[in-house]
Amino acid sequence: MTKEQIKKEILHLRQEIEKHNRQYYVLDDPLVSDAEYDRLFRRLVELEKKYPDLASADSPTQRVGAPPLEKFATVRHTLPMLSLNNANDREEMEEFEERIQRFLKTAQPIEYVVEPKIDGVAVELVYQQGRLTVGSTRGDGIDGEDITLNLKTIRSVPLSLHRPKRRAPGRLEVRGEVFLPRAAFQKLNREREEAGEPVFANPRNAAAGSLKQLDSTTTAKRPLDIFCHGMGEITGAGFAAHADFLQALKEWGLKPVPLLGLCHSLQEIFALHEKTEQRREQLPYEIDGLVIKVNSLELQHRLGEIARSPRWAVAYKFKPRQATTRILDIQAQVGRTGTLTPVASLEPVAVGGVTVKSASLHNMDEVERKDIRIGDAVVVERAGDVIPYVVEVVKEKRSGKERKFKMPERCPVCGATVYREEGEAAYRCSGLACAAKLKESLKFFGSRGAMDIEGLGEKLIDQLVERGLVKDIADLYALTKEELAGLERMAEKSAQNLLDALERSKDSTLPRFLTALGVRHVGEATAKLLADHLSDLNTIMEASEEKLTEVREIGPEVAKSIARFFAQKENRWVIDKLLKARIHFRKQPKKEGKLTGSTFVLTGSLESISRSEAQKRIEALGGRVASSVSRNTDYVIAGADPGSKLAKAKELGIKLLDEKEFLKLIGA
Ligand code: IVH
Repeated sequence: MTKEQIKKEILHLRQEIEKHNRQYYVLDDPLVSDAEYDRLFRRLVELEKKYPDLASADSPTQRVGAPPLEKFATVRHTLPMLSLNNANDREEMEEFEERIQRFLKTAQPIEYVVEPKIDGVAVELVYQQGRLTVGSTRGDGIDGEDITLNLKTIRSVPLSLHRPKRRAPGRLEVRGEVFLPRAAFQKLNREREEAGEPVFANPRNAAAGSLKQLDSTTTAKRPLDIFCHGMGEITGAGFAAHADFLQALKEWGLKPVPLLGLCHSLQEIFALHEKTEQRREQLPYEIDGLVIKVNSLELQHRLGEIARSPRWAVAYKFKPRQATTRILDIQAQVGRTGTLTPVASLEPVAVGGVTVKSASLHNMDEVERKDIRIGDAVVVERAGDVIPYVVEVVKEKRSGKERKFKMPERCPVCGATVYREEGEAAYRCSGLACAAKLKESLKFFGSRGAMDIEGLGEKLIDQLVERGLVKDIADLYALTKEELAGLERMAEKSAQNLLDALERSKDSTLPRFLTALGVRHVGEATAKLLADHLSDLNTIMEASEEKLTEVREIGPEVAKSIARFFAQKENRWVIDKLLKARIHFRKQPKKEGKLTGSTFVLTGSLESISRSEAQKRIEALGGRVASSVSRNTDYVIAGADPGSKLAKAKELGIKLLDEKEFLKLIGA
């Protein structure tokens, strides 16, 4: 190929990839499979590597991040980035409208655009001649920080504007809100907690933390997203109304904030507010109210601003999910991996309709940073689906009788010493046979996605461990009927039932067994990957870190955790004991069928078929069942009362099946 041809191919690939990004991330309407997208991307990476003189800062390959910066430069916004006044109730909304009508000297109804108020981080993007040149934070509204490299890692931020019909303006300044979807936030925190790193209090802090990285490769690993909602300076394009501007954004390949409605009266706005507040938990991202804007840009211009806030817009907030209460006590709770988490018991308090009695304090760094003491009055918040956390201490309410909490030096459960690994925030119990760790491991071992041992409940596990009948997971299979029948609330019949369940569980599969071992970072999905790619237990136990990372989707951290687990003599010994108890793995021949290559996610309850039965049927036809919705999901099966997975699926434009359609698909 000549250099000219290569250049042409590179340009074509960039255009294609950005087109698919736009289809996928902005329009929710993918045109190609993930595999095809990956193929284009790999080809581009390969060509740019081979011909470095043809590389370019606005190539989609640059979204993986750039070399770290020393510090962020300062950017002055052409027009100040204002903030919004709040309206907390209907009365304050009435005042908002009255002020507008007074100012415009009219009693005519006004047309309002209603948008969700995204709980994220305000940013500005500048496009010059259609190319993204600068991206910045709001800062103090006048000057922000130059976070261009970080913003470029966000897939829904186009590196250059799309221009099919509408010509791109010479200069376009767009304001928006960067956020981390709820599911990604929870995953990120789980990973941080496991790694002993401080967790983020809420998705907004996580988004802010991600944008503040001097190393954009870190930002690139966080699945941030953006909603654009406002304009700065624009040259070469004019609009009559805000809603037209939102439409133009979409045509340029930017992702506009969802338009909830055009309203012509406060009554309509109140109804929309109520409806949206009820649905807020179902959305895949956090919102904390509505933003009401006068639609006409001419009227906006006439109304102008006062004290750094526009007169033409207001944030109509939802009920706060915060409340003030008192910390009665703080205790350390021991988890399956031996981490000690400080947990506060609270004087019960209602927060957004739920009674809250305890709050996780995450780790000691957090306790010290916020200076949380026993007896303190604290503000607690329930953010999304996560457990409540302490936002801050109300220091004015201190009496002087508050006590500092110290992490115990010995495990509250087994008495072994507690240690803190260097560089980690987490304290861990060193006890190999810690009862708390053991109880959590047993619970996990018997759970549905693992060995599925019916009847192995929490109360029973407590007794088994406390009486010394079970010292590791393999001991379960050595239990006798006499031992079991001697336990509280255990008649002979239930003892026999448990033994039968244990016996049944021996007929297992490799992925279930791997999950059940409770290796850090290895859930059902990773266990399946391991089993699929490395075929048998021995190969997996012997695999080096390098070999493990060859498995698609297994990163270095997970590989390290797996290799470390199987390198431990104690773990090998327990596995040996389990195999001697005659646990065996049903061969699961790679099923080829009409669902081969399709990934399903189940949500809500199905009426005529159980979840596990549905899973079996899908797998029998060659399909795969995953636990969470991602861009790799092909179908989401929505039963009654579906959860947030349904919203996520809708957001990603994934095909939805109701029960009837699903049954038809599997031929039932
Ligand atoms: S318009 C003139 N629309 O809320 C102010 N802001 O509390 C223009 N925000 O700084 C803001 N969602 O960062 C607007 N749909 C939305 C928004 C939104 C979230 C943020 C924005 C602003 C802050 C004000």
